[in-house]
Amino acid sequence: MTARIIDGKAVAAALRARIAARVAALPYAPGLRVVRVGDDPASGVYVRNKDRAAQQAGLDSATIQLPEDTSEAALLDVVRRLNADPAVDGILVQLPLPAQIRAATVLETINPAKDVDGFHAVNAGRLATGQKGLVPCTPKGVMHLLAAAGTPLAGARAVVLGRSNIVGKPMAALLLAADATVTVVHSRTLDLAGECRRAQILVAAAGRPEMVKGDWIAEGATVIDVGINRLPDGRLVGDVDFAAARGRAGAITPVPGGVGPMTIACLLENTVDAAEARRG
Ligand code: GUN
Repeated sequence: MTARIIDGKAVAAALRARIAARVAALPYAPGLRVVRVGDDPASGVYVRNKDRAAQQAGLDSATIQLPEDTSEAALLDVVRRLNADPAVDGILVQLPLPAQIRAATVLETINPAKDVDGFHAVNAGRLATGQKGLVPCTPKGVMHLLAAAGTPLAGARAVVLGRSNIVGKPMAALLLAADATVTVVHSRTLDLAGECRRAQILVAAAGRPEMVKGDWIAEGATVIDVGINRLPDGRLVGDVDFAAARGRAGAITPVPGGVGPMTIACLLENTVDAAEARRG
């Protein structure tokens, strides 16, 4: 079998168009503020892409750039000011943060109603308990891709590789809420290959280049590759050996052009959701 490619760029473009139409119908421009501390070059590209996509969708978007030596107290002041600003609907503090700042303290200071990353414990708890809240962008994007691929979820055996708070855990919660039979596997799992081979849906979010081999994939499975890894030779690869997996999967996301474009589109979607929920 040669897998169908799930085109994340096309799915993201369609989602961004739906978001732009929602924004155009509002009497205000939803406000998104991205806070960046220091100037890690990788996150610079990411932040600029976010800003451009937000502006194209009609959002009022800006980046607040702070120096690398910003204190935790100073960053918390910025977050509190954004919490109190009625024109701001979404706040995103770009990770990673410099060593002098505790990320957990900063994330817990963001008003959960404006937490468009969905990283606050209140939003994580809402997701875990089946309540409405803001959902982390990457796993939310994966759910959109599964829907676009037409992959049935109810009752399906889904395996999530990775257990981070940003992807693995919320991904498992979303699949469970969609009635999948969910297994979370990770670096300490005894038979990783065997567990992955049982998956009708495999979401790879381990952060290790090409860790998932072709023979870990069940014939016809839907494979979603969340990984973005830069190899020493400059190539960008996912967590899945794409060439080998493509020969067995039913549908698969490429890297780049799979999950990546969905994350930013879902950030815009969360900002509009947050604006509508908060402003009524
Ligand atoms: N750094 C890399 N990805 C992300 C993300 O989705 N949110 C935040 N806040 N920082 C990131």
